[in-house]
Amino acid sequence: MPPASVSGVTPRLTDPEQLKELLGIPFTPEQTACITAPLAPQVIVAGAGSGKTTVMAARVVWLVGTGQVAPEQVLGLTFTNKAAGELAERVRRALGEAGIAPGEPQDDAAAGGEPQISTYHAFAGRLLKEHGLRIGLEPTARLLADATRFQLAARVLAASPGPHPALTRSFADLVADLLALDGELSEHLVTPSRLRAHDRELLTALEGARLTNADLRKVPDAARARLELLGLVEAYRREKNRRDLLDFGDQIALCAELARTRPEVGRILREQFAVVLLDEYQDTSVAQRILLAGLFGGGTGHAVTAVGDPCQAIYGWRGASVANLDDFPAHFPTPTAARPAATPSARTAAAAAASSTSPTPSPPPARAPRGRGGPAPRPGRRA
Ligand SMILES: Nc1ncnc2c1ncn2[C@@H]1O[C@H](COP(=O)(O)OP(=O)(O)OP(=O)(O)O)[C@@H](O)[C@H]1O
Ligand SMILES: [Mg+2]
Repeated sequence: MPPASVSGVTPRLTDPEQLKELLGIPFTPEQTACITAPLAPQVIVAGAGSGKTTVMAARVVWLVGTGQVAPEQVLGLTFTNKAAGELAERVRRALGEAGIAPGEPQDDAAAGGEPQISTYHAFAGRLLKEHGLRIGLEPTARLLADATRFQLAARVLAASPGPHPALTRSFADLVADLLALDGELSEHLVTPSRLRAHDRELLTALEGARLTNADLRKVPDAARARLELLGLVEAYRREKNRRDLLDFGDQIALCAELARTRPEVGRILREQFAVVLLDEYQDTSVAQRILLAGLFGGGTGHAVTAVGDPCQAIYGWRGASVANLDDFPAHFPTPTAARPAATPSARTAAAAAASSTSPTPSPPPARAPRGRGGPAPRPGRRA
């Protein structure tokens, strides 16, 4: 028996077998288990091209087709505009193929009953626009484009009285270093004063140490350079503040604060979105995870499906944390009362269902070749 419809859509699906037929994909039993899993947190860890995104799109069809949620109650997030466009298209096509919703894009996503699918950054931008005032952020704050960021940082560096004896790289490299450090501090939610204290402690500890090789001798130099750069980051941040400007890192950090300190925002969003799909979860940063778990995790038992492949993590250098995948069950716990006693935890079930949880992904399930190699890094995904 399908659950009673909450979506206003007459339930059309009753059996997972129908999904295979409607979408033309011979889902494995493991995939089917993830697609039809109850409305609770689950994480799917599987190798490159093993069908993670396909499972997410099919899950939307199943949940909408069985009347458990309305299409506009689905929130899907991924990294690039291109990936978001593709995911939206896959979900739309799948719903269309299943005869559940129009296969053509609607002008107004919410009014037209369409899932809301966007990038993590666009979602953060919208969240701040709608709720930023709750943490004192004026709606006048503007988003800094990359070129303007570079210009502003270059101006700060050029105007700095110095001296900066430890900053020996070229002007352009130093501007890039300044921006990278600013971004990483935001994505890891580390304040400049905490980093300063850490680097000073490190230098003190190294004072008496015998640094026996060239690599070790580089450590105090790097710490001194970072301390000098930190002063410039602070000047750059003051300049952004003065001009009422934000960049992506600031946005995510502010959203994390919003989610952490204003529980009513989570309540509003959980009411709006009954189902949340997080693609490429291995690339989310600490700040993004705090934002997402603050809104949809932390014991709410909300129906969040995160999918990822640790072997494809490409943003480690800018604050992404593959640990987010491993720690998903802690960040998005299933309330004990809601967990069926005889069933393994969502993560175990999903991980077992996935084609690989090991560092070396096993081959994807038998299917048509798709012309993409193994888990090689894919630079430039956040186009
Ligand atoms: N059980 C299956 N049988 C046949 N084809 C499948 C099956 N599952 C997925 N596919 C197909 O495999 C292809 C790759 O799937 P998908 O893009 O969802 O993988 P992914 O795990 O998200 O990849 P990536 O790691 O690159 O994000 C798609 O064309 C999809 O239709
Ligand atoms: Mg994918």
